[in-house]
Amino acid sequence: MNLKIFVTRPLPEQAIALLAAQADVEVYTQDSPIPREQLINACRDVDGLLVAGTRVTTEVLNAAPKLRAISTASVGYDNIDIAACTARRIPVTNAPGVLEETTADLTFALLLAVARRVVEGDRYVREGRWTEWKWGLLHGANVHHKTLGIYGFGNIGRAVARRGRGFSMRILYHSRNRAPQAIEQELAAQFVDRETLLRESNFVSLHVPLTAETTHAIGARELSLMKSSAFLINASRGKVVDEEALVEALEKKQIAGAGLDVFEHEPKVHPKLLTMPNVVLQPHVGSATAETRRKMAMLAAESLVALLAGRRPKHVVNPEVYT
Ligand code: 8YV
Repeated sequence: MNLKIFVTRPLPEQAIALLAAQADVEVYTQDSPIPREQLINACRDVDGLLVAGTRVTTEVLNAAPKLRAISTASVGYDNIDIAACTARRIPVTNAPGVLEETTADLTFALLLAVARRVVEGDRYVREGRWTEWKWGLLHGANVHHKTLGIYGFGNIGRAVARRGRGFSMRILYHSRNRAPQAIEQELAAQFVDRETLLRESNFVSLHVPLTAETTHAIGARELSLMKSSAFLINASRGKVVDEEALVEALEKKQIAGAGLDVFEHEPKVHPKLLTMPNVVLQPHVGSATAETRRKMAMLAAESLVALLAGRRPKHVVNPEVYT
């Protein structure tokens, strides 16, 4: 009997073809989160599952007795109950190495947009309010030669540091593990404790994965340590920031603004954020370029095929399953 794969998103044809060469493939063709019941039904007799932005809970796993491989077309895997997968000895593969530079580009777009009031300026022109040149119009904040504080120094954090260097910024970083000296030297990045990072940075950019440890890592206390002229940039996961505390800090002018691609209760956005001109909002599109999305889909498909063929792909997030 053929292997069966279920794909929860309408991925590019090339990726589906790659899977179809090895298995019977069913695709949820709507580009929206598949309803829970439908996912559970679709998983009943599948061997492999390819997801993107889909929650894989114990309920889903329990409904899929034959499931033996999961691939997510993302670098983050907080949407998957990894412990439950490991308990079932189901390897989970993710897609690092193809989207970091793209996400760093979007991070920098947010940083520049909020500092230089790009969205406000765009609205000003479109609304026909630009009737004369003004000395005092839309003064923003300098980016060049300012201090960029990067919290989380994996591939994305480092790619953001590289961009910061291009803007002659001073780079501080904090992460669970200190980077090798060669990386610190290449990026002229200085390792500091979290408090120093928050206190000294003009831009604090978040690049940690979402874990129990990083949930609400940026709350009222952390925001109160930041400069009143500083901006918070988040293109990691919404739950890393206590959104209520962020709104309060912005209201009290404890910080100058924020650039956000992710939200605590996505796709819901705190209503007060929607009214703040010094906040730039994006709908979780860090990796959203056609080129990168194609690469993510191909890598996710290739890794799933490898797993189902009994081979170990390059990226397995729960390697314990092999011990
Ligand atoms: C995805 C992401 O778009 O890779 C990640 O972790 O956040 C994004 O690139 C999203 O998770 C859906 O797969």
